[in-house]
Amino acid sequence: MQHNHPVSYAVTSVFNYPFHTEDIHRIAPLGFVPVAIHFRLFDILVEVGGPASGQDVLDIYQKSPSDSTTNGPRSANQTTRYLASTPSAIHGVLHFTTEILLSSAFLMRKLEATGFDYPFTELDIPMQYAHHLMENEKLTKLYTYAIMAAENRMASFNTFMEGRFGKEPTAPEHLKAVGYDLESVVAEARAMGLPVTMVDIGGGRGQLMREIKESIPGLESQDLIVEEFIQDITSISGLTLVEWDYTKEDNPQPIQGALFYRLASVLHNLPDLAAARLLQKMSDAMEPHSRIMIHERRKHAMADAHAAMIVLYEGREGSIDEWHLLAKLARLKLTFLGYPSGPERGAVEMRKIDWLEHILTQCARIMRQY
Ligand SMILES: C[S@@+](CC[C@H](N)C(=O)[O-])C[C@H]1O[C@@H](n2cnc3c(N)ncnc32)[C@H](O)[C@@H]1O
Repeated sequence: MQHNHPVSYAVTSVFNYPFHTEDIHRIAPLGFVPVAIHFRLFDILVEVGGPASGQDVLDIYQKSPSDSTTNGPRSANQTTRYLASTPSAIHGVLHFTTEILLSSAFLMRKLEATGFDYPFTELDIPMQYAHHLMENEKLTKLYTYAIMAAENRMASFNTFMEGRFGKEPTAPEHLKAVGYDLESVVAEARAMGLPVTMVDIGGGRGQLMREIKESIPGLESQDLIVEEFIQDITSISGLTLVEWDYTKEDNPQPIQGALFYRLASVLHNLPDLAAARLLQKMSDAMEPHSRIMIHERRKHAMADAHAAMIVLYEGREGSIDEWHLLAKLARLKLTFLGYPSGPERGAVEMRKIDWLEHILTQCARIMRQY
C-alpha cells in the first residue's frame, strides 16, 4: 500500500481519538448483545432486582413478564437499568451489534479482495461483500437501508431514531442552542406572504416535525411534510407523509419552493457523489426564499460515528470545509453554521445563490483590480 493511499486517509480520520487496548476486549461480547436483547436480559435483571443465574433468566423469559418480579437486592448495573428504561437505546445497541458489527468485520476482507481499492461505491461496500460471501445474492444488489428493510429491521431502526441513546434537545431547543432563530424566519415568511412549508427528507416517524409543530403556533399538517421511502411508515398523525426515494436518479424533489428542506442525519448516510447529487435535487426545487437545514455531527468530534457511516454506507461525518464544497457543487451558498460545544449535531443552512448579486460582486472585484 502506498503511503498516500486513500485508505490511509480514511483510517487516520477514524483514529483521531485515543484508542485503548481494553476497547478490543469489548468486541467479542458485543456479538452477544442481540442474544441478550432477544432473551430480554436487561429487562429481566431489572425486574429480578437481585442476582440471577442463566437458568433463572430462561425461566423468567418463558413466563409472562407479570410473573417475573421477585424481591431482593438489585444486581442490574447502571447500564442495564438505562437500557431497560430507554427503548430507543436498546434498538440502537441492536443496530450497532448487528449491522455495524457485521459490516466492520468484513472491512478488511473487502479491502483485501479489491487490492485496497478505496473509496468504495454505494452498492459495493463491506456490507454487500459480507452478504456476497454468505451467498445472500439478493441482498448484494441493495444499499444498506434497503437491506435493513428486506430483513424487517426498519421498525427497530426507526425506534432507535426516536430518542437515540438518551435525552436529546428537541429540534427547536437545539436550533436555539446553536443560535438559529427559527421563529423569526417563519414570522418573516408569513409577513411576506410566502409559504411556510417545511419538508423533512428521510424524516422517519416525524418526531422532529412534531416538535416544531408544538413550538410554533399555526403550522398545519399540510405545512409539515415528511418524505420517506420505507414500507413500514404509512401515515403520520398531524403531518403529511410523502413517499420519495432520493436515491433514484430520475426522481426530482416533489415539493417545490418550500421554506425549509431539512436533512437530519441523511447526508452522512451517502457517499460524496450521492450527497452532492441529493443537494442538487434540493437546489433544483428551491426558490430564493427556500433554505436547506442540515443537521449532522462534526467528523473530528465523532470519529466513531464517522467509522460507522463508512462501513454501513461509504458515508461520512462532514467537516466545515466539506460543507462549503458541497454547497458549491449544488449551486448553493452557506448562510449559517452553528455547532454545540459537545459532539451533538450542528445546524448548517444553505440558500440559493442570488446570481445577479453574485455577478455584480464579481464585476466590482474585477473593476477594483484596474
Ligand atoms: C439516520 S435516519 C435519520 C432520521 C431522522 N431524519 C432523524 O434525524 O432522526 C435516515 C432516514 O433516512 C431514510 N432513508 C434512507 N434511505 C432513503 C431514501 N433512499 N429515500 C428516502 N428516505 C430514505 C431512512 O428511512 C431513515 O428514516
